[in-house]
Amino acid sequence: MQCFRKVTEDLYWVGGNDRQIELFENIFPLSKGVSYNSYLLLDEQTVLFDTADYAIGKQFIENVMSVLDGRDLDYIVVNHMEPDHCSLIGELLLHYPNVKIIGNAKTFPLIEQFFSFDLTGKTITIKEGDTFCSGKHTLRFIMSPMVHWPEAMMTYDETEKILFSADAFGTFRALNGNLFNDELNFDRDWLDEARRYYTNIVGKYGPQVQNVLKKASSLDIQMICPLHGPVWRSNLDYILEKYDLWSKYEPEEKGVMIAYASMYGNTENMAEILAVMLAEAGVKNIHMHNISKTHVSELISDSFKYSHIVLASPTYNNGIYPLMDNYLEDMKALSLQNRTIAVLGNGSWAPQATKLISAKVAEMKNMRLLEASVTIKSSLKEAQLEELNSLSRQIAEEVL
Ligand code: FEO
Repeated sequence: MQCFRKVTEDLYWVGGNDRQIELFENIFPLSKGVSYNSYLLLDEQTVLFDTADYAIGKQFIENVMSVLDGRDLDYIVVNHMEPDHCSLIGELLLHYPNVKIIGNAKTFPLIEQFFSFDLTGKTITIKEGDTFCSGKHTLRFIMSPMVHWPEAMMTYDETEKILFSADAFGTFRALNGNLFNDELNFDRDWLDEARRYYTNIVGKYGPQVQNVLKKASSLDIQMICPLHGPVWRSNLDYILEKYDLWSKYEPEEKGVMIAYASMYGNTENMAEILAVMLAEAGVKNIHMHNISKTHVSELISDSFKYSHIVLASPTYNNGIYPLMDNYLEDMKALSLQNRTIAVLGNGSWAPQATKLISAKVAEMKNMRLLEASVTIKSSLKEAQLEELNSLSRQIAEEVL
């Protein structure tokens, strides 16, 4: 049966939730699921903003047909061509063969690449700043390339001042009935998943997000309708400010994230002792991760959140412990910047971890590596406690 919500007098949310999915993009664990948002405008012409993933196809089609209530679907605006949002275009073409598809010059080649249906005579190609009138509503198209695909664009409804923002301002986590940000406690229940979504999916494209934020600042936006997660209809500055920080690679909080790998508990012991030293120095904002137990997407999320990162790792096959290496590669790929990094290394006969991790960090942009790194052989001894203490004092002074 249909399950939709009214967004405004003319606009409906016709998306759905997937709580069975294990991995988003077959990479990112989704313990709380994900929503695929789609919006249907009932004007003189009917306009659908994006479709959804195959996984919710039955629900989506029921929602669209129910809201249309016998009317034809006139237009689909394709703001984003990633398959979690465009998979059901073909299904809609079967139900609504007269529908026309609105996209930009980069949209249609991607449709041809992903699908094999014939779009002859069905496409309307728009470009930056073009407008389309559906009756009462005037839609303006705003290109947002590489946020986070090249064809990505946003649509601004000038009439109701709504920004259909594609993936931007979206979050992991299924909607629980509550669609609007003022119906839920975003800061308490959603922010971590919003940050994990942004940093891992869009994080690499900070400069492009900054460009979009500049464009958005010239618009009177009263509502943001993203393709995942809640619709923003109040306190828009909250999420805009988070995006500004994340895309400038500035930390949200002064605090210490300790990410450690440990094979037999000795590197972990060094990390634990450093955490206690930091606590005794007055640092309250300390977050520890055993990287063998924490998915790298959460490590990335916390790396974007905190100002100081301590990386602790044993040497493995004369190199960096593989999970630490993977985390560092991800950090680099996502272009994390402007963090202060300290390294704790371990090795029983040829300790290399401190040197190799430091070298990888040095390859990243605008990272500050603390010289007071600590290298131990097999386990921490009394003789090296002062080295660790000295490092903790330096970090504490900077954080407090
Ligand atoms: Fe939610 Fe880029 O797709």
